Amino acid sequence: MDFLLSHQDLIASKYAIASTGAGISTESGIPDFRGPAGIWTKDPGAEKRAYQSYEKFRKNPKEYWKERLSGPSLLGDLSKVMPNPGHYALAELERIGILKWIITQNVDNLHQRGGSQKVLDYHGNAFKLRCVSCHTRYDPNTFDLERLNREDQLPPLCQKCQGAIKSDVVHFNEPIPSDVAERSLEEAAQCDLMLICGTSAVVYPFANLPRVAKRRQLEKGMGIILIEINAEPTPLTEQKISDYLIQGKTGQVLPQIVEKVKRIGT
Ligand code: APR
Repeated sequence: MDFLLSHQDLIASKYAIASTGAGISTESGIPDFRGPAGIWTKDPGAEKRAYQSYEKFRKNPKEYWKERLSGPSLLGDLSKVMPNPGHYALAELERIGILKWIITQNVDNLHQRGGSQKVLDYHGNAFKLRCVSCHTRYDPNTFDLERLNREDQLPPLCQKCQGAIKSDVVHFNEPIPSDVAERSLEEAAQCDLMLICGTSAVVYPFANLPRVAKRRQLEKGMGIILIEINAEPTPLTEQKISDYLIQGKTGQVLPQIVEKVKRIGT
């Protein structure tokens, strides 16, 4: 029943946003973290090591970089994967003027490659570097990383403030860059509909965003609809933060919703 209503909720919304997690990219071939075939599910040791990454950078940025330049990425070669129908469906919702922003935990850049323009990379973007002092972001090609490595000149230094540069990817225990954190909170506080797609909603502070939106409903008496689209129930479902869960694959559910929105018209 709920599934039939979601397109009507979207059409009636004035300011819809989406918050997404690794689940929206599994149909592109990128494993999630906590699902049945998730990276942490299959290798809990990998999660423990991931908790060390930020400390490693702070203690020894040069060592962090040498390790990063020598080994494969945790998520594999992201340049070879393609957006899937779930990414394209959200981009279409933006194109027709319903979806105002996507706040994603994913670092794979697939929302942008799927055509979405308004994307907040809450956990950073694997295709960017970032200065940890002034948050300036760089295209990795700005620096000749192999030469810096050969000449023992790592880490790359910010061209604006000489701060140390790391991957834009936000590691566990690393603060969310303040520009993205503040903008995400603003969007969560002003939306009247949030599509929550493909996330287990257990990692903070991201998992707070639906709660911020829900509080807006309670404190200001403003209507808001939180719709989860996920393969399984999450704490947002169990704690009734989301109004309803459409249990299924985002790559199948989202295109069907967008199809209904376009058929009924905005
Ligand atoms: N369609 C819908 N849901 C899916 C699909 C799919 N095709 N594939 C997986 N899922 C669901 C899983 O069942 C799970 O509930 O998506 C959710 C993914 O949860 P996680 O693997 O925990 O990913 P995420 O919520 O994005 O993790 C948050 O944790 O490790 C950190 O920084 C990492 O950004 C990540 C953060």
